[in-house]
Amino acid sequence: MKQNIYDNEIFFNGYSKIRENENNANNMFEKPALFSLLPTLNNKTVLDLGCGYGEHCIHFVEEGAKRVVGIDISQKMLAIAKAENAHQNISYLNMPMEDIGELQEHFDIIVSSLAFHYVEDFRALINNIYRLLNDGGVLLFSQEHPFNTCFSDGSRWTTDENGQKLFANISNYSIDGERESTWFVERVKKYHRTFSMIINTLIESGFQIDKLIEPVPTPEILKENPDYKDLLHKPDFLLIKATKGTSRL
Ligand SMILES: C[S@@+](CC[C@H](N)C(=O)[O-])C[C@H]1O[C@@H](n2cnc3c(N)ncnc32)[C@H](O)[C@@H]1O
Repeated sequence: MKQNIYDNEIFFNGYSKIRENENNANNMFEKPALFSLLPTLNNKTVLDLGCGYGEHCIHFVEEGAKRVVGIDISQKMLAIAKAENAHQNISYLNMPMEDIGELQEHFDIIVSSLAFHYVEDFRALINNIYRLLNDGGVLLFSQEHPFNTCFSDGSRWTTDENGQKLFANISNYSIDGERESTWFVERVKKYHRTFSMIINTLIESGFQIDKLIEPVPTPEILKENPDYKDLLHKPDFLLIKATKGTSRL
């Protein structure tokens, strides 16, 4: 079942506070990795699934995209996108990405940043994306790492007597499906998928996998932000770039 948790006032305020901090994990690891995988955008059409504040949409236009469509299930997130990241080449649509099969246009690039883990039916989503892409088009997405999504509540770390994190705990990794956890509010729903499920779904839908990144902090980032050393035990994000191939041998 679709959950629009970003329109929950308490969740929205908590999430906004994290994003206001410049040193958040999105800015430090996820966004640079995502942008490093972007193909040339000049004169291209782009669809951003779960576009949130529209920060990426405006970047795509600045990089030369001729048309960007940003869709999001949350009215609150889109209100910020329209207020802060409006542009004549961008259309923001309030719709769940589960419904993109209804869109009447095709795209060169489909991007999604940290939103796929909110979608239950990954195979249907990927099949829809494949249909919406032009031949040779690129799907680029990030999601919470499967070593994170496998959890519901419970202790994610084994610590020593001083509270120092020693090991990341892994729980129920091999069981795909819904998880509920507490993040600002109780009962936030996300969907866990194993690596093999994610990769095989892409391959079976016709995609060629180009690259994966599991971003970790550079020594320079670690010097300024030593707490991020935990990511060396367990990355928080997974990024995948895949291409809609024209030949299927
Ligand atoms: C972690 S935020 C990321 C926002 C943006 N992509 C970014 O990186 O700044 C996740 C976004 O996905 C949206 N979202 C969650 N489930 C969705 C769904 N089923 N369809 C469309 N958007 C969804 C949320 O409303 C939220 O704006």
